[in-house]
Amino acid sequence: MPHRIAVIPGDGIGPEVIAQAVKVIQALGGVELHELPWGADHYLATGQTVPANGYDLLRSFDAILIGALGDPRVPDNRHARDILLGTRFELDLYVNYRPVRLLDARLCPLKDRNPGDVDFVVLRENTEGLYVGIGGRFKAGTVDEIAVQEEINTYKGVHRIIRHAFEVARTRTRRAVCMADKSNAMQEGHALWQRVFREVRADYTDVSTRHLYIDALAMMLVQDPRQFDVIVTNNLFGDIITDIGGALQGGLGMAASANLHPGRTSMFEPVHGSAPPLAGRDVANPIGAILSVALMLEALGRVDDAQRIERAVESAVRDDAVTGDIGGRLGTAAAGDAIRTRLA
Ligand code: NAD
Ligand code: IPM
Ligand code: MN
Repeated sequence: MPHRIAVIPGDGIGPEVIAQAVKVIQALGGVELHELPWGADHYLATGQTVPANGYDLLRSFDAILIGALGDPRVPDNRHARDILLGTRFELDLYVNYRPVRLLDARLCPLKDRNPGDVDFVVLRENTEGLYVGIGGRFKAGTVDEIAVQEEINTYKGVHRIIRHAFEVARTRTRRAVCMADKSNAMQEGHALWQRVFREVRADYTDVSTRHLYIDALAMMLVQDPRQFDVIVTNNLFGDIITDIGGALQGGLGMAASANLHPGRTSMFEPVHGSAPPLAGRDVANPIGAILSVALMLEALGRVDDAQRIERAVESAVRDDAVTGDIGGRLGTAAAGDAIRTRLA
């Protein structure tokens, strides 16, 4: 039975990079793709972000591949909130798994760094934190305006992401988890992270542990990324440090991610956004989207095919058959072809 995949190309460079990711999946076969038009154009034309029963529709697929959402014509980002964040929340995709792996020394902006020096994963809590949209504005638009945006940390939410981080660490050679929070300043919400981290690590005595405040971690990511293996953190901090992770790999165009609820329909997407200035110019790097397909196939149990994609990407990077952002001369489509034709 082929896997049934929902494909949401989305906005800006989303459709261009997703077209390349689709080429790669189709070359591997074993999937049935269903494209959904959700995005800014669809919202502006119909007033609809996600159709009625849209999340149920998504749950009926084996996986979801999504490009990027964000369009200057929708300044409040309403459609992205419903389509991207809404899917994370409604499908309860509590793990945002973002691997950071340098594929070639010359892509790293840090001097004298080799692939082995940048090889860690970020587990970002994906269903709560500052993203829940609880809050409001009082006296909006006046000099007395008050804006409240609550950060939610629940025992259940913190526990399941930290436990997942330990499970991931057990599959890795170094078996080291670093939990990052801001418990020195956020003495209520992040005290919960501290408590749960202490509690969970007692069950994983084979995994080494460390705690860092998020500001120090951001500095160390740039100074010496080699020290990191598995990083677990909250929704907002995870968002920010995975853009640093993108840069360490050569740029945001390289970074892949998975929004997971183990055992359920999960969603796969490049870390980057819709990059409006690059849209329609055949310049966007499709590697983040293509490596997100590798994460998807791995989650669907097609580990060999996932590795075939990774090897093809590594080979294209080695041969400089890549886009301009990482020093190549190819357009998006040609860079996608370079990877597709290297699938062995
Ligand atoms: P962005 O990720 O779109 O772009 C940031 C920088 O990275 C830009 O310089 C861009 O040119 C570069 N870049 C990004 N992807 C690239 C690629 N594939 N190849 C080459 N260069 C690439 O972030 P932004 O500019 O802050 O946001 C633009 C829009 O995207 C906003 O509406 C934002 O909300 C949205 N966004 C969406 C997602 C998502 O859907 N997952 C993620 C991030 C941002
Ligand atoms: C990401 C993006 C999203 C996020 C935006 C578009 C809401 O930056 O997936 O990293 O903050 O989660
Ligand atoms: Mn982000």
